[in-house]
Amino acid sequence: MPDVNAELLDLARSIALEAGELVRSRREEGVEVAATKTAPEDIVTAADRESENLIRGRIAAARPDDGFFGEESEATAGKSGLTWIVDPIDGTVNYLYGIPDYAVSIAVVEGDPDPNTWRALAAAVVKPATGEVFTASAGGGAYLGTSRLQVATGKQLSLALVGTGFSYDSRRRGLQAEAVSGLIPRVRDIRRIGSAALDLCSVAAGRLDAYYEKGLKPWDHAGGAFVASEAGAKVTGLHGVPASRALTIAAEPGLWAQLEPILDELGVVDR
Ligand code: IPD
Ligand code: CA
Ligand code: CA
Repeated sequence: MPDVNAELLDLARSIALEAGELVRSRREEGVEVAATKTAPEDIVTAADRESENLIRGRIAAARPDDGFFGEESEATAGKSGLTWIVDPIDGTVNYLYGIPDYAVSIAVVEGDPDPNTWRALAAAVVKPATGEVFTASAGGGAYLGTSRLQVATGKQLSLALVGTGFSYDSRRRGLQAEAVSGLIPRVRDIRRIGSAALDLCSVAAGRLDAYYEKGLKPWDHAGGAFVASEAGAKVTGLHGVPASRALTIAAEPGLWAQLEPILDELGVVDR
């Protein structure tokens, strides 16, 4: 019997690599802001749109019955019960500034395209600037290239390097900074890398010990959260509910248990 998840993963990987190459070459040609979205800080470039068009077209050609839910175009429902969740460039501000931490993230999920209920089947997160490819498939584990990823156990929170991100909304960003100021004395240090997809893959790869962020959209976390969970991280919201816009926390389960009550105490979901 064909391994459907492996086939979905092959497709996600090859499309993410093609889109990653497109985005990387456009970056070399120079980048300008094409439009702003929720705030002047929340930008879209021509390359975001071009990348999403390419991904959307490739998926439609290969899997015409599947749904599509991407950041830069209208969602369409499918007939197969599967939906592709796409961030054509995650880390667009880094992309604009020439910082290499941006990614193409493609995940395919079963069920409604709602992080509270979906079941991820396969995902690929490509970092075009370095050529790194993070992948995961349900039951098949997580990989960086051909290396299997497994989060390490036994980390104390006081020695944990914790990633986070901030809202494009300036008022909310200020509140989030207040929460970070409560956390930073209790951990090794904080990183704000600027791509949720890469933050989550970094937890999988041991480049961060933990990550949390409020306000993520489904396409920000779908791919990276699945890579992290297939690497053995616990990826949830507060109190273990599914990761969603309210909050996403990712860490090895023992570290998650140290971090989650502190995030609760600091009121991160209210900020
Ligand atoms: C953003 C990045 C950023 C995170 C924001 C996201 P975008 O996605 O993932 O790290 O802090 O919440 O919106 O706008 O670059 O696709
Ligand atoms: Ca994003
Ligand atoms: Ca994006």
